[in-house]
Amino acid sequence: MTEPVRIEDIPGPRGLPVVGNIFDIDSASPFESLMGMAREYGPIFRLSTPAGARLIVSGAELVEEICDDSRFDKLVGGGLANLREGGAGSGLFTADTTDPLWRRAHNILLSPFSLQSMQDYMPMMLDLAEQLMAKWERLNPDEEVDVPADMTRLTLDTIALCGFGYRFNSFYRDTLHPFVSAMVRTLSESQRRARQLPIQTRLRIRAQRQIEEDQAFMNDLVDQLIAERRAQGAEGETRDLLGRMLGGVDRETGEGLPDENIRAQCITFLIAGHETTSGLLSFALYSLLKDPEVMQRARAEVDEVLGATALPSFEQVHRLRYVTQILNEALRLWPTAPGFNRRPLRDTVIGERYAIPKGTPLTVLSPMLHRDRSVWGPDAEEFNPDHVASEALATLSPNVFKPFGTGQRACIGRQFALQEAVLVLGMLLQRFEFVDHENYQLKIKTTLTMKPDDFRIQVRRRAERPIDHPDAAPARGDGQVAAAATEAPAVLAVERHGTPLFVLYGSNLGTAEGIATKLAREGTERGFAVTVGALDDHLGGLPTDGATILVCASYNGMPPENAARFCAWLRDPATATDACASTMCVT
Ligand code: HEM
Repeated sequence: MTEPVRIEDIPGPRGLPVVGNIFDIDSASPFESLMGMAREYGPIFRLSTPAGARLIVSGAELVEEICDDSRFDKLVGGGLANLREGGAGSGLFTADTTDPLWRRAHNILLSPFSLQSMQDYMPMMLDLAEQLMAKWERLNPDEEVDVPADMTRLTLDTIALCGFGYRFNSFYRDTLHPFVSAMVRTLSESQRRARQLPIQTRLRIRAQRQIEEDQAFMNDLVDQLIAERRAQGAEGETRDLLGRMLGGVDRETGEGLPDENIRAQCITFLIAGHETTSGLLSFALYSLLKDPEVMQRARAEVDEVLGATALPSFEQVHRLRYVTQILNEALRLWPTAPGFNRRPLRDTVIGERYAIPKGTPLTVLSPMLHRDRSVWGPDAEEFNPDHVASEALATLSPNVFKPFGTGQRACIGRQFALQEAVLVLGMLLQRFEFVDHENYQLKIKTTLTMKPDDFRIQVRRRAERPIDHPDAAPARGDGQVAAAATEAPAVLAVERHGTPLFVLYGSNLGTAEGIATKLAREGTERGFAVTVGALDDHLGGLPTDGATILVCASYNGMPPENAARFCAWLRDPATATDACASTMCVT
């Protein structure tokens, strides 16, 4: 084997003494600078910073290894570390994986992001989507829309309403709500600090004072919301994020979250949950505008699935598959959170040739990972939603498409963001023609996230597609529809033959358990002798008689609590031989 390449020998731009490569990165569009360097230096390159070396990785084979949670962990550094110190506190986004409160919060917060919760949020998502539609419907033909600004109003108000029943009413204001101004200043200061020397940060005394004022203001507002909920007692119990955090208990430790941590989570959700989704919707609209064929295909799907429905149902939204592909393709080319940071837990070698010392900061540069031609083909740089069709993705490693980060530290709000974005893009396509009156040329603006800068369009009502009046088509986003859609078909009672049927589940949030229960009921109706239970309760040997069905969820590859021991057992070749002979898995 050849000698591994040492970190000092990994190629990269030559930096200046002390400041390293700080001035090689355009502060207005840092990710575009990094993308340019990746094109020049390849799948891995080294940057020097005042804090030491940092590696930027975008080759699919290398990223595959870096996504392994047993060898690498999230690194909370740069802008995120500043955000933790300067306003957001230790929320899920900014906490270290080793912080016991991160795991507790992660366990408690899985429930408000479950499938059932997504159904509960539908009416609130529709409320805000309708506000956007109403605004655009009332514009005169020559008036223009600032797309990212309106998408930010929409996504911010949606997360605040679904998160803690608070209305920023952004569509009814000309200026930002003071909380939002404080949050935006905090975000941009955190980013700025990541790009300057510590001495510069210390010298900017007024900025420090401002960040403290902003932090106090945000804390006060959220503390007030928490206090109001607590004062309402059982009456104030709600199924939004705040309600579930106040009442939630970690099944692993039996403990809830302290109020200070709940406050940090609320601020985190606002920060993590709005700009990313707003940028996504803006990039998707930009891509549609420039691609009439894709626009036509999307409209055909929307017309078929939504028809004249004023308020789409949960089930309809989840049938908009091509619209979902458009959003995923937008995330492939312009992942709005354009990178994530990792560090090796031990000294290690990646790609069989790069020796990386323990703790070295590594940034996965997702826009370039998503343009790796060895994965996406010669047209990797082109917008084509077929790149991310489910059949195409099924042939690829899950680690080549990483807009939502990775493993246990991946985005907890992924389904929330996608449901909201599909709903809104679907409703826009159903109602409007979009006019590229300025022949917009893409210019990217980067804060903590990226979005198209100064992107304006005009919109016209689609005269040929009238929409039902909302009162005539009540929203059916209350779980009723999904329940109806997933209800098992009625089975005719048959004679009991008594063949053993084991239905075993791994489930944190109840969805997989619900499916298992339904299958068990159907099995009984079909005459089987059914046993239903958690996978961990059936460790050490699957029955060889009859049939066994496993229904198991996974959180980005991690097994649920009641299947962890079972998965370890299954992975162990010494114990798992022939275990699956009569087993069908539904994941
Ligand atoms: C298109 C929209 C979104 C994108 C592209 C996105 C992207 C990401 C990425 C890349 C990470 C990993 C960051 C890292 O490793 O440092 C992340 C984490 C996170 N996201 Fe999102 N996100 C989106 C929407 C949302 C929404 C809507 C919410 C909340 C409702 C949310 C909440 C979070 C949280 C709490 C984390 C931290 C999870 C943890 O480490 O435990 N995100 N997101």
